[in-house]
Amino acid sequence: MKRSALAVIVCSAAAVLAAAPARGQELAPTPPMGWNSWNTFQTRIDEHLIESTADAMIASGMRDAGYINVNLDDGWSEKQRDANGNLVGDLKRFPSGMKALGDYLHARGFKFGLYNCAGTLTCAGYPGARDHEFQDAKTYASWGVDYLKLDWCHTEGMKAPEAYKKMHEALVASGRPIIFSICEWGNSKPWTWASGIGQLWRTTGDIASCWDCKKRWQTGWKVLLDQQIPLAKYAGPGHWNDPDMLEVGNRGMTLAEWRSHFSLWCILAAPLIAGNDVRNMTKETHDILTNHEVIALDQDPLGREGTRFRADAGGEVWFKELSDGQWAVCLLNPTAASAQMTLNWKDLTFLNGGKYLVRDLWVAKDLGDTDANYSGEIASHDVALFRLTPAK
Ligand code: GLA
Repeated sequence: MKRSALAVIVCSAAAVLAAAPARGQELAPTPPMGWNSWNTFQTRIDEHLIESTADAMIASGMRDAGYINVNLDDGWSEKQRDANGNLVGDLKRFPSGMKALGDYLHARGFKFGLYNCAGTLTCAGYPGARDHEFQDAKTYASWGVDYLKLDWCHTEGMKAPEAYKKMHEALVASGRPIIFSICEWGNSKPWTWASGIGQLWRTTGDIASCWDCKKRWQTGWKVLLDQQIPLAKYAGPGHWNDPDMLEVGNRGMTLAEWRSHFSLWCILAAPLIAGNDVRNMTKETHDILTNHEVIALDQDPLGREGTRFRADAGGEVWFKELSDGQWAVCLLNPTAASAQMTLNWKDLTFLNGGKYLVRDLWVAKDLGDTDANYSGEIASHDVALFRLTPAK
């Protein structure tokens, strides 16, 4: 072979390698969507709850809006491993067994998610994964598990990068594609090491269902939101920052706060994991969670995480780059009073002076183009959310 031909082959192999996603990244080309039991039910979970939730997700249109992962959080297992060291689903609360629960979900077009901890016990005191990683991954694969959230309680003396890498290797060895959700609360800056190990990693402690309250280890979503500002550059297809699950529909917030929480999680390209009781949700909650134009911002194939452009007396402006030269812009009123707010599109330097058509997503109305300022009354803690499309 001539030297030049060899050089071409070597160069194209290098180009393919550079373009190929790290192992497992294809499991989450856009941020994972689904439901998780923790925010509403904590450890009060059983097979009837999970199955009726899945049924309600179908009836309400949530599954078809993209919420396909049904994830059990802490409290699904027996308090002890069996005589062979295997994890066992709680026999009283899941009498049909975990495999049957997975089958129920799969038959209805869902993926099946489970939870554990990297340490010796879970946060609620159930058996943890430490020293059982490969055995557990095999068990999960045999049950048809598609998604594993691995938490960080009871991990004395452990190092997060090593612990999560070990479970990643165990999941790969199981032979089943399993989304791996890293949950060490942002302690060791997982955005700097977890890409290629998990598809998403928590960047914060736990969310509380409120605007900016503090309750022991939980914090309101506005505080978590502001913590994401420097992290946008670390996210992308297959490797997402996770500012924790949604509290839309849960007590402690106004309708405006649910709407802005959801809007800004979409601007962040955050995983959209609903945490409400979907069997008993109001129309308002349903309409937020299933707004396909807002979800489309989160799920945009370019996979960019948005961030804050400015915060001043005129409110906060958040933005996210979308595919095909489009942009999402979110105007947030963080004050305690309703305010008349104005956006002069020319001030948004990321638009580079271009002309765009403007659609108001919550009002579901085309507003014209960026030659005209936007001006509107925005309630306390509410948003106006826009998609901008290049004008021809
Ligand atoms: C931690 C996690 C939560 C939840 C609970 C379960 O606090 O961060 O998301 O999984 O544990 O015990």
